[in-house]
Amino acid sequence: MTRVLVSQEIIEDALEEFEGTGITVDVRRDHRPLPPEELRGAAAGYDGLICLLTDRIDAEFLAACPQLRVVAGVAVGFDNIDVAAATRAGVAVTNTPRVLTDATADLAFTLLLSTARRVPEGDAFLRGGQYTHWRINQEQLGVDVFGATLGLFGIGQIGRAVARRARGFEMTVLYHDVQRLAGEDERELGVTYVELVELLARSDFVSVHAPLTDSTRHRFDAAAFAAMKPSAMLINTARGPIVDEAALAAALRDGVIAGAGLDVYEHEPAVDPGLLELRERVVLLPHLGSATGTTRREMCRMAARNVRDALLGRRPENLVNPEVADRLVAAGEGSG
Ligand code: DGY
Repeated sequence: MTRVLVSQEIIEDALEEFEGTGITVDVRRDHRPLPPEELRGAAAGYDGLICLLTDRIDAEFLAACPQLRVVAGVAVGFDNIDVAAATRAGVAVTNTPRVLTDATADLAFTLLLSTARRVPEGDAFLRGGQYTHWRINQEQLGVDVFGATLGLFGIGQIGRAVARRARGFEMTVLYHDVQRLAGEDERELGVTYVELVELLARSDFVSVHAPLTDSTRHRFDAAAFAAMKPSAMLINTARGPIVDEAALAAALRDGVIAGAGLDVYEHEPAVDPGLLELRERVVLLPHLGSATGTTRREMCRMAARNVRDALLGRRPENLVNPEVADRLVAAGEGSG
């Protein structure tokens, strides 16, 4: 019998993807992740795993689950999975790209606008009964987004979707990435490649859209903030550890930069206490990037299809480690 474990609560429409396949799926109907040792125990004996970004899939986990053939993350980011260890173990790793691009780009723009125009502060002011009269020097004076300069750190699918939105605001869009886009793509998106130091120096808003890797970890540290304009704002909807959170709290407190809109945190779900204290021009959300009903449903379905296909010996659509593809197909032929 081929068995799949779903490590935590998902949107269960997705399980329709297994109908007629003979694959048995067990769902752990709990919305909190298991501690690593319990997850190892729970997953032992399963052929496939659907997991969330809060599950740590490392070499120890893979060693404890030798039967496992595929790990499907319900996220585009897969920094919670040791892909090199999975590849060594011959385990396929999949993610859920594209389906969440627009939802995440929308949220990046929401954070940018909310931080620039101090939306949560205005809301709290009104609900607190402080809006007694309109005045020119309103308490929540913000900064202009229309026509400002936006710096994108990372120009993958989500970075590009943010660039498209920025066009509507007639922003100047700079970007930095390890790989420069083709000239044609730059023209189509209306973006200009610059070195990071120039991006930091020129941008009114810097928005992070890079994956978490050894080279992006803490890329935004005290030195990066010092290189930004004092009026600049940082937006992060990618991964928390790309930003040195304590250094960010200090930079905001000391006026090195003016604001931050964050959806992800270095030690998520914990947030640096220094950041929590700051209410002016600091907007903090609980990792809502992909959080629309349609997007989350599609992510779950995509992960289910990825596991199903891998276990049926087909190459899953979103295989992160193609090195294991031949092995998957051969296993499928063997079991057929
Ligand atoms: C992802 O997919 O990586 C997001 O962070 C989840 O919304």
